[in-house]
Amino acid sequence: PAGDIAKGAKIFKTKCAQCHVAEKGGGHKQGPNLGGLFGRVSGTTEGFSYSAANKNKGVTWNEETLYDYLLNPKKYIPGTKMVFAGLKKEQDRADLIAYLKDATK
Ligand code: HEM
Repeated sequence: PAGDIAKGAKIFKTKCAQCHVAEKGGGHKQGPNLGGLFGRVSGTTEGFSYSAANKNKGVTWNEETLYDYLLNPKKYIPGTKMVFAGLKKEQDRADLIAYLKDATK
């Protein structure tokens, strides 16, 4: 489904922002900065100490991989230290990904 950036921004604020900043050049929190996320290989942000699982996953973050990851992070990356149950609604994932693509470029 097509994503709505404004709706995605709200989802990010309520579900992700306690652990992530989504701005290039922004800092890390409990989770890595997500600036420049699209097109980047998983586990490669400078200055963040990833789990081996996240570091070794070796996927490139894009619409498809984020759509699968965000459904069930622990299933997609067994051993991840990201404590997040996932977003079960397709539309929520599409909205969030549209926001992330825009906010993190
Ligand atoms: C990792 C997105 C919620 C903590 C990641 C990564 C992405 C991501 C894409 C992988 C980054 C990379 O490979 O460079 C999101 C989104 C969220 C969310 C979109 C909301 C829907 C959370 C929450 C927390 C969290 C709520 C904290 C309770 C972490 C941590 C990692 C991580 C600690 C590193 C995992 C590891 O090294 O195993 N997140 N996240 N995230 N996230 Fe999140």
